[in-house]
Amino acid sequence: IFILSLTISCKRGGEEKEFVVGISHSSVNDSWRKAMMLDMQVKASDYPGMTLEMKDANEDNDTQIKQIRELVKKKVDLIIISANESGPVTTAAVEAYRAGIPTIIIDRKIYSEEYTTFIGADNYEIGRAAGLFTNSLLKNGKTTIVEIWGREGSSSALDRHNGFSDALIHNDNIILKTVYGRWHRDEAKVNIAALGSFEDIDIVYAHNDVMALAAREAIMEVNPQAAERIKFIGIDALPGKGKGIEAVRDGYLTASFVYPTGGSTAIKVAWQILNGVPVSKQYALTSALIDKDNAGTIYLQTEQLADYQEQIEKQRNNLDKMFSEYRFLQNSVGLILLLLGVV
Ligand code: FRU
Repeated sequence: IFILSLTISCKRGGEEKEFVVGISHSSVNDSWRKAMMLDMQVKASDYPGMTLEMKDANEDNDTQIKQIRELVKKKVDLIIISANESGPVTTAAVEAYRAGIPTIIIDRKIYSEEYTTFIGADNYEIGRAAGLFTNSLLKNGKTTIVEIWGREGSSSALDRHNGFSDALIHNDNIILKTVYGRWHRDEAKVNIAALGSFEDIDIVYAHNDVMALAAREAIMEVNPQAAERIKFIGIDALPGKGKGIEAVRDGYLTASFVYPTGGSTAIKVAWQILNGVPVSKQYALTSALIDKDNAGTIYLQTEQLADYQEQIEKQRNNLDKMFSEYRFLQNSVGLILLLLGVV
């Protein structure tokens, strides 16, 4: 009986390896980054041995560099980095890799090959797709396009610009104006409003949906007719209320391009690396055009998915609760048998 009770109480535990994954986010203050974080957390719940340690650099390069160095010093098992600005953050990311910590670079690139894996969609291709879509909207005469930039030092903004302008090259009928929004609603709004007149604008291409919608709002306040006429194009196409897909469905945006967060892939790949499974140097995520033809259907599908996800989470919580009750009972049995043995 004594041996039996010992085997019962020792059966669990010890078989799951424990890992700490450090995550260096450029920021977590916008919807896209919140979605990325959620994707990571949901996926990480598949791996009970994995703990995530999140750092938020609040869009500051120096803070991000400091936080990456802290994670290295703490000797986390793996680091995931989404660089605020690619240039300045590169050194710290390379330091982590050279310290022997596997590094996953996600979304925004670093300017070095010294990392374990890159995960993200091709921003140059997304910019080019936006440019090709824009080409289909050009008028016969001159067309004026306003491009609203994300943060200029972020590789995603630069690539989205390069792809876009390459698709429009050699077209003398295009007048391209530049506005800076650094990814933010308020900055984009103020700088668009500063243009003063909107009569000449035909198309607004913004590096994310937040800024495209901010531009529409700014113009709507001054010149509603212009706001109705101008075609707004964004990037991200997030599901959910008030986000990109809904905005396309409702006609506020003419198009948006899906920019997958890669959060779930990053956690899966992290788990593989930590368990010695060979991984690729790059995981290219795919984008897709959302326009008036598919926005309605896709919106419904994403709502349904979110609903399933919620149900899965609920069931997972129930299972956890049941499992801990079961463990309690199992231990009690062990204890009772032990006492019986003693008696
Ligand atoms: C958020 C965000 C997204 C964008 C991505 C690009 O900071 O601006 O809206 O698509 O970063 O890196």
